[in-house]
Amino acid sequence: MKTLIKNADVVLPSGTERVSVLIEREKIVAIDPASHSVADEVVNAAGLHLIPGVIDDQVHFREPGLTHKEDLASASRACAKGGITTFLEMPNTIPSTTTRERLAAKCELAATKSLVNYGFYIGATPDNLSELQLATDTPGIKIFIGSSTGDLLVDSQEALERIFAETTLPITAHCEDEQTVQANKSRFAGTNDVSDHSRIRDVTAAVTATGRALDLAYRHGHRFHVLHVSTAAEIPLLADHRNLITSEVCPHHLFFNTDDYPRLGTLLQTNPSVKSSDDNARLWQALLQGKIQVLATDHAPHTLSEKNQPYPQSPSGMPGVETGLALMLNQVHTGKCTLEQVVYWMCEAPARVWDIVEKGQIAVGYDADLVLVDLNHSQQVRNDQQLTKCGWSAWHGETLTGWPVRTWVMGHEVYRSGIFNTDRMGQAARFDHALGGYWKTGS
Ligand code: DOR
Repeated sequence: MKTLIKNADVVLPSGTERVSVLIEREKIVAIDPASHSVADEVVNAAGLHLIPGVIDDQVHFREPGLTHKEDLASASRACAKGGITTFLEMPNTIPSTTTRERLAAKCELAATKSLVNYGFYIGATPDNLSELQLATDTPGIKIFIGSSTGDLLVDSQEALERIFAETTLPITAHCEDEQTVQANKSRFAGTNDVSDHSRIRDVTAAVTATGRALDLAYRHGHRFHVLHVSTAAEIPLLADHRNLITSEVCPHHLFFNTDDYPRLGTLLQTNPSVKSSDDNARLWQALLQGKIQVLATDHAPHTLSEKNQPYPQSPSGMPGVETGLALMLNQVHTGKCTLEQVVYWMCEAPARVWDIVEKGQIAVGYDADLVLVDLNHSQQVRNDQQLTKCGWSAWHGETLTGWPVRTWVMGHEVYRSGIFNTDRMGQAARFDHALGGYWKTGS
């Protein structure tokens, strides 16, 4: 099967050009092929831009155990609609993904249900070192240095030292200092005011934990990725990366701040918490300056009835995979960044961070994970149009200009203007460290 995508403005590593792209089976086989090239399908993409599929390196998809909030089928459809062709999922499911057996079980589930490519982190506990040492089919180890949703937590220095010293997979972490958070919780005991969430999970909590993790990474020479940076105060810590450290920011920490609590209430409750408008501005600047490399969604669905419980019974997290790319394309529309920068932050940088071979760029020999986007299309985000099982978005009512319209995964179209190719469920590729991070077709 050969597909020729014609007349799109194609975001290539060297810049954006109006060229044709030829796909054969799962690969991109030619850029600007000879005009007599034949294909089984010709896609006229005039007026659209072609970008590599987004790689979202931080999502929570809730299967197994919490499938009333989300499952791998609903989540991966939401990804395809949102332009995400590869996700890396976090271990705080029930049971949590802390053994190779549970990792294999998740991969098996995704092998029947996922419409897009997938990888699953293995979660650290104080005593699962041998699992972390022997795991291969995973992009890396996730440590909750501070507790969040679920029961994963590694707070003891001794356990953290062992994990950084005695494992080889890249490590990534949720950095909010447990002691600081617990002390602040006591100070605000009895509060029902959700804006106290940002006083409990405060700047000190974030900076202390990020500093602690970076110290471990430097001393042990261990590759480390800081998840969801939420404060300007963490940025100087990341600047001296010594080729070991990468980091990421999420849309809610770029676009929301504590002034939004009166409007959004507990929908805005996330871990790490949102901070000030000054933090928004300086995180955005750090992204533009390359001090933060990756933009990920931290898609963390909870149902509206769960979210609408009074604080602090309300859980932390918001969905993001359907809106992440559109929010950034909207920034292109307003002139705050370029489409090429968005492609770097959401496609190329995560591929580099996680050693994902032949993904994240439009180049010959790369996997045909591709997205057509319409930079001129304006549309309102609406709760009733969300495919995530939780059925809401914190951006409900906002009009964004720039939306994904058509998505290919491993050379096959999976989504086109509201229609899914469900025949492709379970046909995507999975992360396999044993093959040097290469993504095999199927399971
Ligand atoms: O807000 C969050 N929600 N932060 C996390 O670290 C976990 C996530 C979830 O799984 O709900």
